[in-house]
Amino acid sequence: MFYIRNHFPYPVVDIRTWELSIEGCVNRRIKFQYHDLLQMPQVSLPVTLECVGNKRALFHPKVRGEQWELGAISHAVWTGVRLMDLLYSAGIQMHAREVIFEGMDKGGRTDRPGVFSYARSLPLDQSLNPHTLVALYMYGKPLPFRHGYPARLIVPGWFGMASVKWLHRLVVTEEPFQGPFQVVDYVYNRNPLVPSESPEPVTTIRLDSTIARPTDQEALAKGDHWVVGTAISGEDPVVLVEISTDNGTTWLPVSWLDPQEPYSWRRWCWKWTVTSSGTYDVKVRATDAAGHIQPERADWNEKGYGYNAIQHIRVYVD
Ligand code: MTE
Repeated sequence: MFYIRNHFPYPVVDIRTWELSIEGCVNRRIKFQYHDLLQMPQVSLPVTLECVGNKRALFHPKVRGEQWELGAISHAVWTGVRLMDLLYSAGIQMHAREVIFEGMDKGGRTDRPGVFSYARSLPLDQSLNPHTLVALYMYGKPLPFRHGYPARLIVPGWFGMASVKWLHRLVVTEEPFQGPFQVVDYVYNRNPLVPSESPEPVTTIRLDSTIARPTDQEALAKGDHWVVGTAISGEDPVVLVEISTDNGTTWLPVSWLDPQEPYSWRRWCWKWTVTSSGTYDVKVRATDAAGHIQPERADWNEKGYGYNAIQHIRVYVD
């Protein structure tokens, strides 16, 4: 049930020859084989991954790209080695600024000639964050191939593009990385007619909440219904989710199904007793610990990233 997002065809991985190398601004180039990583201290962390294109289909005006509705978000417990431990064993040089993560998958792009690997960089402080993992297991089992076996990055709290799958090469650099998945894709470009000189990069998951059930345009019978869904934020934790069944005139708080975890969605439920038939405009909105509340309208951008407007569904009761 975990969503999958790939830019290229699946790579060929032979675990007998697979290595994870660390090079660039390090004191010694180092290579880890799979069994080296399995023998290192392991950390487990529940982390929700969300593609930044999740809910892209809801943007108006419409934008190009995969027309995700609500489904490009999933949750797992990931286990692996701290990236920090790998980087320290290579020794990071003083002038290092970023780490580039290269996946084994590659292919062409329509916007420039050549063959590219899926590669992304992270600032050094985020790379040395003890919660940034090179994950080897998903829910206690070796990573499924489609989710990056044998090793993938997990960058908690960041949108999914940062969590590079089929990892095989790390390059510590002093220059900002200019790869197409860093500077062409995954930047918020709000006005396609005026390309920004320093477009804002996509980083952490935006505050958002989602009704999973009922679904938009569903017909329900009168009586009791559980409205269920999720809420998430990659920065300040979600502290309140509210539901409105009268198109946003009045709001009531939901009950939590999950405790507050720093990098996980929080599932919630709300019992709705409907006594009158009619058309209901149901909305959900989340508030975080810093007092931010979801916006009424999403921040439109050319590639349809980071949609997090208050969700609105219509249900019919008779
Ligand atoms: N890593 C590689 N090597 N290739 C990719 O195409 N896609 C990224 C990221 N890591 C990608 C990748 C994007 S855009 C997302 S949203 C997540 O992987 C999706 O991870 P999943 O397919 O395991 O859900």
